[in-house]
This record gives sequence, structure tokens and C-alpha cells, in this order.
Amino acid sequence: MARKPLMAGNWKMNKTIPEAVAMVKELKGKIADVKDVDVLICPTFTAIAALANEAKGSNINIGAQDIFWEAKGAFTGEIAPNMLVDAGCTYVIIGHSERRQYFGETNETVNKKVKAALANGLIPVVCVGETLKEREDDVTFKVIESQIREGLKDLSKEDAAKIVIAYEPVWAIGTGKTATPDQAQEVHAFARKVYGEMYGDACQQVRILYGGSVKPDNVKELMKKEDIDGGLVGGASLKADSFEALVKFNN
Ligand code: PGA
Repeated sequence: MARKPLMAGNWKMNKTIPEAVAMVKELKGKIADVKDVDVLICPTFTAIAALANEAKGSNINIGAQDIFWEAKGAFTGEIAPNMLVDAGCTYVIIGHSERRQYFGETNETVNKKVKAALANGLIPVVCVGETLKEREDDVTFKVIESQIREGLKDLSKEDAAKIVIAYEPVWAIGTGKTATPDQAQEVHAFARKVYGEMYGDACQQVRILYGGSVKPDNVKELMKKEDIDGGLVGGASLKADSFEALVKFNN
């Protein structure tokens, strides 16, 4: 089954509102003619509304970098799913390794967030990935399997087909050390197999992105692999020129 590629920029904690708007303004002209790739930018919460406004009518989707599962109430500092929709998001990154590492995110909270996002019509981009120690200890597949089975459990088949999974080996994030296309493909194929055991055919529709030092000069080789359906990109998504090159990996 042909899956439409998705190129997603994870801006992390970068860019003020004017900086964010300026980049989307520039990017939107550069990629206006791209139809065969879905494009997503995930800025900080504070820039979401302004970017959604700037991206209106373009082929750029706007997403958040996190979400909370409750609908409203006494949860100081958190953002509810319908508030993200309200601000103009259509996607949301969930369970990024930096959230798991620094903010106590677990497979259980990931699962609650995934369900809350789906219930509100947001497409979750759910991150999984092993640390360097886990790779060296030879438990990569075990870690990925439990992140998928626990983080993505109890979805309807319809929802299961809609979500996006991002495989991001922690040792490759921001380090300049990309997984080789073969290393990535091996884990992507495994993730799809596990997902198939959970949700049958939905595993053929679910898009699995690779993340971890994706750059204009390695994107083409990664995207040639059968089970790699796009990229979740940090550093190289922060400049319009390099993100344009990633979106146009096929040219
Ligand atoms: P990187 O980040 O492209 O800067 O390695 C990827 C990510 O963490 O999503």
C-alpha cells in the first residue's frame, strides 16, 4: 500500500513568535507546489495560533509538541486537547524521548494522551526509540515492542490506522549520528509487525517516520527504505532552506 510521506519539523524550545512566523512565511512560498508529501511544523505552544494563521490556505499543517489528557480543570500549566484544536493544530507529538527523559513521560501517560488526541480529532505522532545503553545491551526490539504495545493499546481499528509512529533512536537525536538506513529499516519493519499483531491491516496504513539527525544529505537514502514513511526532524527543520530540501527529498 502506498503511504503518503510526512515530513515533520519538531522545533522543540526554539523560536519566538515573530521568528516562527517569518520562517513559515518563507517556507510556504518555497514548497507551495508540493502535493505528494504532507508537511507538518510543531512549534512551541506560544507560537501555535500565530503559525496556524500564517499557514492558513497553504499545505503546511501545524502541530503541538505535547498535550494533556484531561478536558479542563485544575491542572496548572497544562494544555487540553480542545485548546490545541482551537489554536489551529491538526497533529500533536506525543512521548518524545526528551519528554520521557526529562519530564517523566511513561508508556501509560503516552497512551492516555494518544486517546485524548484522537478523541479530539488530532493526529498523534507517537515517538518510540531506544537509548544507547539499550542498543548496546541488545534490548532495542524489546524496548520498542513495549513502547508500542503499552503506549498504543486499546485503540479502535480506525484510529489505529490514522496515527503516526516516529522511531527515534535516542542516541541519534541531535548528535549528528544518524542510524544507517538499514538499521532504521530493521526497526521500522519490526514496529510495523508488532503493530500488525495488535491491529491487523492498520499496520499497512500507519505511517512510521524516522527521526534522529535527519538532514538534507541523508534523507534520500532513508526515504528509499520500504518501511520509512517520512521524517521527524529537529535541527534541520529550523531553517527554511534545509526544511525545504527535506520536504523535496524526491526531487
Ligand atoms: P534532530 O531531532 O533532528 O535534531 O536529531 C529529532 C527529534 O528529536 O525529533
